[in-house]
Amino acid sequence: MVKIGYIVGSAAESSINKKLAKVLVDQAPERVELHYIDIHELPLYHRDMDEDFPQIMTEYKAKVGAQDALLLVSPEHNQSFPAGVKNALDILTRGGTNELQGLKLGITGASPGRFGTINGQSQLRQFLPPLGVKIMGAPLLAVQVGKDTFNDDGTADERTTQRAKDYMEAFAQFVEV
Ligand SMILES: Cc1cc2nc3c(=O)[nH]c(=O)nc-3n(C[C@H](O)[C@H](O)[C@H](O)COP(=O)(O)O)c2cc1C
Repeated sequence: MVKIGYIVGSAAESSINKKLAKVLVDQAPERVELHYIDIHELPLYHRDMDEDFPQIMTEYKAKVGAQDALLLVSPEHNQSFPAGVKNALDILTRGGTNELQGLKLGITGASPGRFGTINGQSQLRQFLPPLGVKIMGAPLLAVQVGKDTFNDDGTADERTTQRAKDYMEAFAQFVEV
């Protein structure tokens, strides 16, 4: 089995990224096991925490470290990725271990905007590789969400469903290499 942890960059109740994450989980090939990793209870990191590293951060890092790869499903905030996502990534580099080193990462996101999180994704693709993160290059999955993209039952329209399926198959292959 391929173990993939997934992070959703939005805590909003009706988050479209939560909806996209559900579709990705549902469309993953059978050989993939997905584990949700919550980042929304993590305190905002500052370096005094290194003296007495918070337990919740240690547990979060251990969860990430136990996966074969990480999948990020995140909105775009003001042309970038949300602060909570940066905090979660920063924490991975502190506390005595660095889970970013060698981490295989998939980056996806959903937004109602025309470019569907492409700007935020581009920024992640810029700063993470020099930190040792191996990001899957293609396919891109930046979903522009319209009123018919997601259904009330947690499914998505045909095109989004197919894109999610193709993405998860490609990501599984990327992780298996
Ligand atoms: C502070 C803030 C900034 C935003 N900036 C962008 C943006 O730069 N590009 C974009 O496409 N959407 C932007 N949006 C709209 C979000 O894409 C939209 O609220 C989306 O539903 C957020 O994802 P979520 O539903 O998973 O929380 C912004 C929303 C907020 C609250």
